[in-house]
Amino acid sequence: MKVRKAVILAAGMGTRMLPASKVIPKEILPVVDKPAIQVVVEEAVASGIEEIILVLSPGRTTVLQHFQSAPELERLLEQRLKHDLLDIVRHTNRLARFNTAHQHEPLGLGHAVLQAREAVGDEPFAVILPDDIFDGPRPCLRQLLDIAETEDAPVVALLRVPPSEISKYGIVAVKTVRPRLHQLIGMVEKPPLDQAPSDLAIMGRYVLTPDIFPLLAAGKPGAGGEIQLTDGLLALSARRKLYGYEFEGERYDLGDRVGFLTAQIGFGLKRPELADRLRAYLKTVLSS
Ligand code: G1P
Repeated sequence: MKVRKAVILAAGMGTRMLPASKVIPKEILPVVDKPAIQVVVEEAVASGIEEIILVLSPGRTTVLQHFQSAPELERLLEQRLKHDLLDIVRHTNRLARFNTAHQHEPLGLGHAVLQAREAVGDEPFAVILPDDIFDGPRPCLRQLLDIAETEDAPVVALLRVPPSEISKYGIVAVKTVRPRLHQLIGMVEKPPLDQAPSDLAIMGRYVLTPDIFPLLAAGKPGAGGEIQLTDGLLALSARRKLYGYEFEGERYDLGDRVGFLTAQIGFGLKRPELADRLRAYLKTVLSS
């Protein structure tokens, strides 16, 4: 299967990052100096995606604005001969083709995906949760697309999590195909530890087929009273083979305060111009 479109779900209320997310959508909060939404759009583009569909909540246009031209700023940078900065700004305007869909009420992730149905049409597509960001040898989404292409089937990202984390995620039951690759035979959204079918949790990258849309549309509210994407996946797995892939690389949860901080450090240390000072600072605080 060839996947051209990625749906990025950016309509969440961001309650886990209040008060930072009171006025600014949490997707605009930075990883070092780049909004999280840009980090994931770049991952999608590096994975071969051609069109981005942003699912937004009404009135929160900042997320889209970030990828549109900023004529005043660009003129000013041009006048002042700040060509490096101009390149940084213009890079964001040219990253991909964008389309939007709106989620008017926060009725769950499955419901958010459903809002992109028209924009996606009748073709396979990727789903990205911008709270989850990855760092590794190859973009996480590219790793999933490779599996989707060779198996000609939908696939989700998986990560083993410790017992204390199980009830935060969609947890899957699997039949292992080969190291890292599993067929999904069951799944449950945010189970209590004693009801979890494994320690393999779904992370925020999915490659899906359009036959999930009617299943989401028919879905009843699940965990937390919301239309869950995980329930849609379970229905899909009853109809066709669905895979999970334990991606290679590091994952950060930007919706969690410690995850947010470790992402700043992890990505900061990868920047040659920042790494030495950051490392020196970390040494001092850790030894005091
Ligand atoms: C969502 C999904 C869950 C998944 C998680 C990954 O939960 O519902 O299945 O494991 O993202 O980050 P949320 O973080 O929106 O509560």
